Amino acid sequence: MLIAKAPLASSALWPLLSPMKPNSFCILAVLLLAGIQACQSDKTPTNQVPEMPKDQHSAARPDHAVVTHTHLNLHVDFKKKEISGVAILTVNNKVKGTELMLDTRNLEIENVFLGDELHPTKFELLAEQKFLGKPLKINIETKENQKVLVRYRTTAQSDALQWLEPSQTAGKQHPFLFTQGQAILSRTWFPCQDSPGIRFTYSADVHVPRGLRPIMSAETSRMDTVNGGAFHFDMSRPIPAYLVALSVGDLSFKDIDKRTGVYAEPSMLGKSAFEFSEMGKMVDAAESIYGSYRWGRYDVLVLPPSFPFGGMENPCVTFATPTILAGDKSLTSLIAHELAHSWSGNLVTNANWNDFWLNEGFTVYFERRIMEKLEGKEYADMLALLGYEDLKETLDELGQDSPDTHLKLSLDTRDPDDGMNDVAYEKGYLFLCHLEKLVGREKWDAFVKGYFDEFAFQSMTTEHFVEYLNSKLLVPNKIATDQANIDNWIYKPGLPSGVEVPKSSRFDVAEKATNQYVQTGKIESSQTSKWSSHEWLHFLRSFPAKMNTAQMQNLDKQFHFSQSGNSELLFEWLMMSVRNQYRTSYPTMEIFLVHTGRRKFVLPIYKALIANGKDTELAKQIFVKAKPNYHSVTSTSVENLFK
Ligand code: BES
Ligand code: ZN
Repeated sequence: MLIAKAPLASSALWPLLSPMKPNSFCILAVLLLAGIQACQSDKTPTNQVPEMPKDQHSAARPDHAVVTHTHLNLHVDFKKKEISGVAILTVNNKVKGTELMLDTRNLEIENVFLGDELHPTKFELLAEQKFLGKPLKINIETKENQKVLVRYRTTAQSDALQWLEPSQTAGKQHPFLFTQGQAILSRTWFPCQDSPGIRFTYSADVHVPRGLRPIMSAETSRMDTVNGGAFHFDMSRPIPAYLVALSVGDLSFKDIDKRTGVYAEPSMLGKSAFEFSEMGKMVDAAESIYGSYRWGRYDVLVLPPSFPFGGMENPCVTFATPTILAGDKSLTSLIAHELAHSWSGNLVTNANWNDFWLNEGFTVYFERRIMEKLEGKEYADMLALLGYEDLKETLDELGQDSPDTHLKLSLDTRDPDDGMNDVAYEKGYLFLCHLEKLVGREKWDAFVKGYFDEFAFQSMTTEHFVEYLNSKLLVPNKIATDQANIDNWIYKPGLPSGVEVPKSSRFDVAEKATNQYVQTGKIESSQTSKWSSHEWLHFLRSFPAKMNTAQMQNLDKQFHFSQSGNSELLFEWLMMSVRNQYRTSYPTMEIFLVHTGRRKFVLPIYKALIANGKDTELAKQIFVKAKPNYHSVTSTSVENLFK
């Protein structure tokens, strides 16, 4: 365990370290020594699977000098919309060379100090590379272990950060800040080796205005009362940079059970705790399938609606969109998904963004196993079939031959964010189901559990996974001849022929009612009274692409989709409306686009507005209104549609 020996000493003197007094060098030296001691970890993480390929999205040279611990001492200034402070890096200079390479993008680097005596050292920001930013080259000493202190501040272009005005929060009284690191945005809020194949432990002292509370993806946090508003965090398990996360706001907390709970703005807390009341059972279910949960607590933080994802698996505290608060727990499989990442992704991590399916495919598979355990097979089957429908749509959109439909991606010359799509999730899921079927669930589960144990806190490449799969599962079970088929799944586009399409008995029953509706324009409520929102979603998806106004009117009159409190259903309804230019729904659509920043919902609606041939101007107008509510991840994607 990491023991923070002197966090009080370091943070109590913080004002002297703050950007307002940059020249107090002697005091700086003394207190930074304390800070450095405070951040020493007695756990040396294993950093690399030896044959790790170079990550083209990072300037780091971990084979030369690798960061093993990061201590952040940060000041969050809502007036300036700026984070400033220091990152104190513990560096393992493996080759006893003179260079440390870090990733930065849109950070202002003020100065860099070295060693326990903190003497200034030379540094250079190298030329800006598109979406990768400027590598920070630091002259270090030729000894094996040392400390490097970087003083820096974020800028208005620090894309990980979203600063929200009070009006953009539920409570309307206090500002809010959150970070989103995945895939390569962590480098925009702290200097780091921003590669999923490099892990480090971290600690932080975070200074926020009185009344606000910071939350980080850390195991422990405590308020440092001596120091007016400073909070201390520790993460003693090594994690990649994309999982370091911070959120600051008027946040309160409610326990679900001993190790799970919910953070939310006070007015959202009751609703959130109700929605996620099964979280404790979810962690128990996950453990019963793939072994112990290794991160201490599991909490969920409910963010304002601008959060660009459904969820983000920040260790110990999943960041989540409020659009899953349906009021009936119908969308909580998303929590099962983010929880599952505590094994697939956070414990065994894709070495490279080209191996993204190892994170997401395994996670979707595990998510559905958790839901099967909690809600039964018929429930999980519905999720699988909805996922398959999403996949088909993505494959159609990308083209069956597109290299972006391979499980193993080649994103090297692109922003990884551009190539990450449903394929990693749903084709990955189908591939793992295929493997399960080859050997049977019992052997498969033992294999997966062994995989998580053996590679815990390490990174994994697709190639290494295949080798491990062969040697531990396929060869012992005499299925070695299936190699060509495995390569087909991983290195070829589209879906292999003969793929087993998910089936759902509940959807089969629902389809009978759908047929009745198509023939008579009505369904008896006795047929639908037990439907979950998944059946309703399937119902909506079964209508033809072309619908006339009368048909749309009739649907909404009977079922009130336009007023649905379930965001997935409302989204589906709005998509149908835009595809068919059913303008009655447009005011609702505009409100939805302006108030929700979740990219999975927002982007397809803009695309459909452009694609229907009549509404590009409207899409542009709505985007102008909505943009201030969007995180950079969402606004960049929407902007690309108009280029
Ligand atoms: N890790 C992802 C979110 C992500 C992916 C962020 C790629 C940045 C780049 C997260 O676990 C996720 O997959 N979220 C999904 C929910 C899930 C149920 C499919 C989402 O946000 O919709
Ligand atoms: Zn995920």
